[in-house]
Amino acid sequence: LNNGLALTPQMGYAPWNAFGVNVNETLIKETADRLISTGLAELGYTYLAVDDAWAEKERVDGRMVGNKQTFPSGMKALGDYIHDKGLLFGIYSDAGTHTCDGYPGSIGFEKEDAEDFASWGVDYLKYDNCYCNPEDPVEGRYAAMRDALNATGRPILYAMVSRGMRPLSGAALLQVGNSWRTTADIAPNWDAMLRCLDNTVGLSRFAGPGHWNDPDMLEVGVGMSLPEQRSHFALWALLKAPLIIGADLRRIDDEALGILKARELVAVNQDGLGVAGDLLWKEGPLEVYGAPISGGARAVILFNRHTPFPLASKITVNWHQLGYPAEFKATVRDLYAEKDLGVYQEHFTATVDPHDVCAVLITPHIALPYFDKWRPWHR
Ligand code: DGJ
Repeated sequence: LNNGLALTPQMGYAPWNAFGVNVNETLIKETADRLISTGLAELGYTYLAVDDAWAEKERVDGRMVGNKQTFPSGMKALGDYIHDKGLLFGIYSDAGTHTCDGYPGSIGFEKEDAEDFASWGVDYLKYDNCYCNPEDPVEGRYAAMRDALNATGRPILYAMVSRGMRPLSGAALLQVGNSWRTTADIAPNWDAMLRCLDNTVGLSRFAGPGHWNDPDMLEVGVGMSLPEQRSHFALWALLKAPLIIGADLRRIDDEALGILKARELVAVNQDGLGVAGDLLWKEGPLEVYGAPISGGARAVILFNRHTPFPLASKITVNWHQLGYPAEFKATVRDLYAEKDLGVYQEHFTATVDPHDVCAVLITPHIALPYFDKWRPWHR
């Protein structure tokens, strides 16, 4: 969607993965404080959004209002609190009659709701896909809210939960929203994470500045082993997924926080070239993912999804898979360790533990601008 927003994938926080419907204004305010004190906001995690269950169960005089018990100060006051911290305010609604948990949806009320959101200072809308008429094409009901948001004159990032990002509908969808979900809901376990990943592989050509594939929010700090969380985060960064934290930031452990704060992976995600990475090679459970980075470099992830746990496996990326001549000398840098691993020619091989990744930046010593154009999946 060409509204000037999400020129790089959006970054922020939403409470759904850790809290579900158990949200309230104290939690959101404490999360705002934690986004600042942990240094996450400074790294770019600036959208702080409420998810489902923030509203009263029924409209009041035709308007959606904050839940009187759980958000007693109201949504405008919450937005003010968030803005006072230098953060951006996200809200949630649905393109049907009800949200998934039975709160009011916006269908038929797009104008009123968009105006109210804008008057509360909303900067981001997640627009869900429950209680919709399945016959009603996504482009219709999602476009109605896009137009209503646009008519408010306030820049509001538009994150759609609509699915169906497949070649036929793809071109139309990316005019509608700033991101769209490519999968059903993630859960804090390995299989769910892989399902979200696999459903997004092959879709990178639809992503670009202002319109991103969304394999769903992060489970880092919610569940999974540390190597699994490392894999999840690195892969989401390279796919140019929105990086929306879902953990309880008041209790998150240092290792998980360290993953979310991996600044060189965040830099891959936010790279100005804005080209999403994709799967380059696969043999059984061993996979290589790559993305072009501005200036002619490549971000590469060597991923070992072997289950049940065998020994670590060697995984290789060859320069020809990256669009480089074999004789190129390139510096390989470990993006989690933030350390150069050395200078390599023709290929790079790493030994990767089961369920873990080796995430690297490969920078050739002769970087030529035309290497920016490399998109193997566009063939
Ligand atoms: C379905 C979405 O996919 C989830 O992310 C979450 O927003 C829930 N609905 C809320 O009901």
